[in-house]
Amino acid sequence: MTTDFFKGKKIVITAGPTYEKIDPVRFIGNYSTGRMGYAIAEELANLEANVILVSGPTALKIEHENIQVHHVESALEMYHKCIEVFSDCNLAIMSAAVADYRPEHYHDVKIKKNEEVLTINLIKNPDILYTLGHAKKAGQLVIGFALETHNEIENAREKLRRKNADAIVLNSLNDPGAGFKHDTNKISIILEKGTIFEFPLKDKHAVAKDILNCIAENLA
Ligand code: CTP
Repeated sequence: MTTDFFKGKKIVITAGPTYEKIDPVRFIGNYSTGRMGYAIAEELANLEANVILVSGPTALKIEHENIQVHHVESALEMYHKCIEVFSDCNLAIMSAAVADYRPEHYHDVKIKKNEEVLTINLIKNPDILYTLGHAKKAGQLVIGFALETHNEIENAREKLRRKNADAIVLNSLNDPGAGFKHDTNKISIILEKGTIFEFPLKDKHAVAKDILNCIAENLA
């Protein structure tokens, strides 16, 4: 393990889902558990990095002297916290499953079932990875994730270019044991210069170590 690379570095990590409120009792969310992002945060903290974990709603708990946790709920809250902390970070790792859209209007009272068909307009959330990727200065690295169901490599490469990331960690939903609901994950890492590294199915802490090794060995 190329341990020294991360020592003393300031690193922001997003993890978990975001919840987009519809009314006081309902939201739009997704199945992300946050386990991948929390595992990366913990591995980095053990390597003596200063970690800022911006976490969507999860059941996970984490306590480590090198981790500052900021709990957020919505994509907009996650976006604002990341913008606030990024300028003096060395590295950003965006593992959260951020909702791409949010309801256009929040109903401040519970929606009653008066209609046969209910329409909720959704508007686009800001893309945190895109924003940080395009804001990064020399010496800052931005790593994204991609969860794809088809044309995985091609879509991930396109995402890397569009969001100006230095690397994309690709999960395929076609791999058994990979994705949201498992303790394990199977990833490929695509670097900005085009190189692809493929890894076997492993538990999420071992995957976190592979990701960090790959960053230290190829992007340092
Ligand atoms: N991401 C983000 N902010 C968003 C949406 C996504 O930071 N509003 C980040 C995720 O944390 C992840 C990467 O972007 O690192 C991949 O997101 P994904 O939803 O797969 O990509 P999209 O650009 O939304 O493309 P699509 O959903 O069309 O595949």
